[in-house]
Amino acid sequence: MGGPAPARGLADLRDEIVAHGGCGYEPCETATRMVPGDGNPDAAVVFVGEAPGKTEDELGRPFMGRAGKLLDELLAEAGVVRADVWITNVVKARPPKNRDPKAPEIAHWMPFLVRELELIQPQLIVPLGRHALKHFAPEAKIGEVHGTLLDERLFPLYHPAAAMYNQTLKATLFEDARALGALLDP
Ligand code: URA
Repeated sequence: MGGPAPARGLADLRDEIVAHGGCGYEPCETATRMVPGDGNPDAAVVFVGEAPGKTEDELGRPFMGRAGKLLDELLAEAGVVRADVWITNVVKARPPKNRDPKAPEIAHWMPFLVRELELIQPQLIVPLGRHALKHFAPEAKIGEVHGTLLDERLFPLYHPAAAMYNQTLKATLFEDARALGALLDP
């Protein structure tokens, strides 16, 4: 089997996530499919969302629905495409009716995200929204730190879903995406 070590490790991780179940946590029991991270195993930048929604649950890939379409536009604004980056979620199973994931469910999935990030070793992590941000910078508030570099490796953005019906937030998100682009390619 070929491929550099990170790709192999990520393929194993992906297989484990896809086969995940039987643990008793509600999202893991009710989801149609698990949604592993996706993209370039050598990515310098990893985007971390909260949890899959309906479309992602159907397709088994992260950010494929309306929030995903907006994320694609933001990537374009930052001068990158999906194939350049890695996109994942804190929780890999859709919570029923898209409710927020509960703390024990987040803790249950955290070792997978930790392994994922260890394998990829990105230069920059982009937490999308306050739920994802909480795991990287528990004290930080998304309204204060969005679009700024934290600890030399975090660049939080508002969650695309939050901006879908809020034009002011959407404009801020695009502005932050341009700042991200400048950081990646000064
Ligand atoms: N929202 C997320 O946080 N993740 C997805 O994959 C889709 C929508």
